[in-house]
Amino acid sequence: MTRPWILVIILLSLTLSIADAGIVETSFHVKSLRVNRLCKRQVITAVNGSLPGPTLKVKEGDTVVVHVFNKSPYNLTIHWHGVFQRQTPWADGPHYITQCPIMPGNSYTYKFHITGQEGTLWWHAHVRWLRATVYGALLIRPTSGHKYPFPKPFREHTILLGEWWNANPMDVEDAALAAGVAPNISEAYTINGWPGDLYSCPSKKTYKLEVVQGKTYLLRIINAALTAQFFFKIANHNMTVVAVDAAYTAPYSTDVILIAPGQTTDVLLTTDISPGSYYMAARPYLSAVGVVQVNNSTTTAILSYKNISKSSPPLLPALPALNDTPTAYTFSSNLTALTTSWIWSPVPLKVDENMFITISLGLSPCRPNQICVGPFVGQQMSASMNNHSFVLPSTTSILQAHFHEISGIYTPDFPNQPPLIFDYTNASNSFNPSLLITPKSTSIKRVKFNSTVQIVFQNTALIGVEEHPMHLHGHNFYVLAQGFGNYDAVNDPKKFNLVNPQERNTIGVPVGGWAVIRFRANNPGAWMIHCHLDVHLSWGFATTLIVENGGTPETMVPPPPADLPKC
Ligand code: C2O
Repeated sequence: MTRPWILVIILLSLTLSIADAGIVETSFHVKSLRVNRLCKRQVITAVNGSLPGPTLKVKEGDTVVVHVFNKSPYNLTIHWHGVFQRQTPWADGPHYITQCPIMPGNSYTYKFHITGQEGTLWWHAHVRWLRATVYGALLIRPTSGHKYPFPKPFREHTILLGEWWNANPMDVEDAALAAGVAPNISEAYTINGWPGDLYSCPSKKTYKLEVVQGKTYLLRIINAALTAQFFFKIANHNMTVVAVDAAYTAPYSTDVILIAPGQTTDVLLTTDISPGSYYMAARPYLSAVGVVQVNNSTTTAILSYKNISKSSPPLLPALPALNDTPTAYTFSSNLTALTTSWIWSPVPLKVDENMFITISLGLSPCRPNQICVGPFVGQQMSASMNNHSFVLPSTTSILQAHFHEISGIYTPDFPNQPPLIFDYTNASNSFNPSLLITPKSTSIKRVKFNSTVQIVFQNTALIGVEEHPMHLHGHNFYVLAQGFGNYDAVNDPKKFNLVNPQERNTIGVPVGGWAVIRFRANNPGAWMIHCHLDVHLSWGFATTLIVENGGTPETMVPPPPADLPKC
C-alpha cells in the first residue's frame, strides 16, 4: 500500500513541475562560415555563425522548440544527443532513421520535451561528418522544487572538446569513403573551439576560464570530437565527478577523467590552491594497437585565478601515457550511480531480450567503379555489429517505414547472437579472411514495449583491437559490468552491479574486451545504436532498435509532424 503522504508529495511535485515548465524557443541558421583555427582560413558549416554553436539552456520539464534553417550546401539533421524524446521520436534526428534530411534551402522545427533528465547533454548534426563543426551544448538544470544533489556551485562553465581538420570535414569523409580507407587524421583538438597554446601557429587563441580563489565551480565537459577519446586533466587540481551523460553519479574524486566521443562528464572543481595560472589539457587515449597515423596532440585551455601578478606561464598537467589502459579502465569502471537522486530508478532484474553483439571492424568488397586503394586488394574498410554492416535507407526513414508500414525499407532480422562463435579477442584472428568480410544490410532489431533488454557488447580483434564508444538513442542504460578478453557467460554475470551501476547513453567498450548494458525499452520509436567514432559509423557500425507500441495513447508513436522533411 502506498502511504497517502507519498501520494501528496508526488502530486505536489507534479503540479510544481507543470506550473514551472517553460518553453525554450530558438532558431538555428546553418550555413557556411570561414574561420581560422589553425594557420589557415577554412570554410566549414556552422550554426548561427559560431563554432561551437549556441548553448541551449533549459530546465527539466521544459519544452524545446528549435527552428532549423538549412542554408548550407549539405543535407542536414540535428540530433539532441541523450534526450529521451519520449512521445517525440520524430525529433530525434539521425538521418534516414527518424527523418529524411532537411535539404539545402529548407527548414524544419524540432519540438520536444525534457523530462526526467538533468545534467549535461549536447546536440550535433546527424548526417555524415557534418557534426565535426555543427555541435553545441544542451544544459538541463533542475526545475524549481528540485536541487542539485551536491553543494550549489558558485558558477558553471561548459568545456566542449572538439576536433579540427585544416580541410572541410565533409571532403575528408568523402575522400576516405571513395578510397575505402581510413580518413586523414585531424590537425588539432579543441577546447570550446580553440586548439590552444601548444600548437605552433601564429593565429593561435586559447579559451580562458577566470576563477575566484576558494570557490566551487561546476564544469560540464562534453566530448564532441569525431575520432578521439580523451584524458582530461587540470594542473594541480582534483575534480569530483557528479554526473555523466545527464545521470547523477556518486561523487567520485579523481585527478584525471576519460571521456569518449558522445559522453559528457560533470565535475566539481574547487579553486583551493595558490592563485596562479593552470592549463586544463586533453590528449587522446589511444587504445588501438599498431595504428600508424594518429593525431596525438594536446589541446589546452587556461584556468586563471583572478588578481594574480601575471608573471609565470601556466603550469601543464602530466597527462597519462597515450596507451594508458589501466588509468582509462579505473576511471570508467569505478563510477557508480547516485541512487538517492529523484531521477534514479532501480535496475530491472528480469531480462526479456538477451543480446550478445560482436562489435568489429572488417572489410567489404569495393563497389563497382570504386577505386579502392587498399589496405586489401579489392576490399574497402567496413565495420559491423553481429557481422551486419548497417546501410542507411535512402528513400524514407526507418521510423516512417515502421509507422506507415512500408515494406522493403529494412529487415527485422538483426540477430541476438553473432553468426559465428570464435575466439573474439585473439589477435591471431585479426586478419583471418573468413572472419573479416561483412555483408551490408539494413537489419534492425524489434522489441516489445517495456521489455528489459540486456546487451553484451563484445569487442573483437578483427583488423585490430580498439575501444568503441557505443551509443544508444532514446534511452539511458545501466552499465552492469565491463572486462577484458572474451565475455564469460557463466562467471561474468556474478560481477554484475545491480545495485548502483552508472547510467549512461554512451559506453566505451574496453579495448579487446566487453561491456554489459541493460535498459527498459519503454520508449516507442526507432532508436539507433552505433559506435560514436564517426569513421566507424560511416563504415556501417550501427543498427536500429524498434520499440513497439504499448497499449495506450501515451505509449504509441504519434503521427509525424506536418513539416517533417519530405524524402
Ligand atoms: Cu551523438 Cu547517434 O549520436
